[in-house]
Amino acid sequence: MTRHLFILTGASRGMGLAIAQALLRPEHTLLCISRHANGTLAAQATAAGAGLTQWPLDLANAVGAAERLQAWLGEQPAAQFASATLINNAGVVPAPGPLQSATAAELSNALRVSWRPPCC
Ligand SMILES: NC(=O)c1ccc[n+]([C@@H]2O[C@H](COP(=O)([O-])OP(=O)(O)OC[C@H]3O[C@@H](n4cnc5c(N)ncnc54)[C@H](OP(=O)(O)O)[C@@H]3O)[C@@H](O)[C@H]2O)c1
Repeated sequence: MTRHLFILTGASRGMGLAIAQALLRPEHTLLCISRHANGTLAAQATAAGAGLTQWPLDLANAVGAAERLQAWLGEQPAAQFASATLINNAGVVPAPGPLQSATAAELSNALRVSWRPPCC
């Protein structure tokens, strides 16, 4: 067990991209989930010898993402990983304004994508 698995949401840009770049090491496998893949990150992963898979997925469809992730995890040779880490970084900032003027779709999207545990 020499590899470490990182599942990272929102790695296409911003802080998530910076986290992904910092994790690009030969002993790391990254599964990055956001709506868009990042070609530069893919090239950097190849140069670093790191394992990188990017899924262009909308996390607002949480059930679809969970089902795909569950299936993918089931296919992985678990014995090769010494650890698995989830970094749930993806987030959206709705248009600033009074809460009562936000639409249900905006609120739903923000809550689904930007969910954080109650402790955070
Ligand atoms: N920057 C700050 O000052 C700050 C401060 C406090 C907290 N935060 C939090 O830190 C996190 C990252 O912030 P950031 O500034 O790096 O944000 P950012 O630059 O806007 O990046 C957001 C990331 O989330 C992904 N994302 C957004 N909606 C998504 C969706 N529906 N499905 C899948 N992926 C989605 C985006 O990728 P795609 O567009 O490709 O989907 C992108 O990779 C957020 O949770 C934010 O709330 C940031």
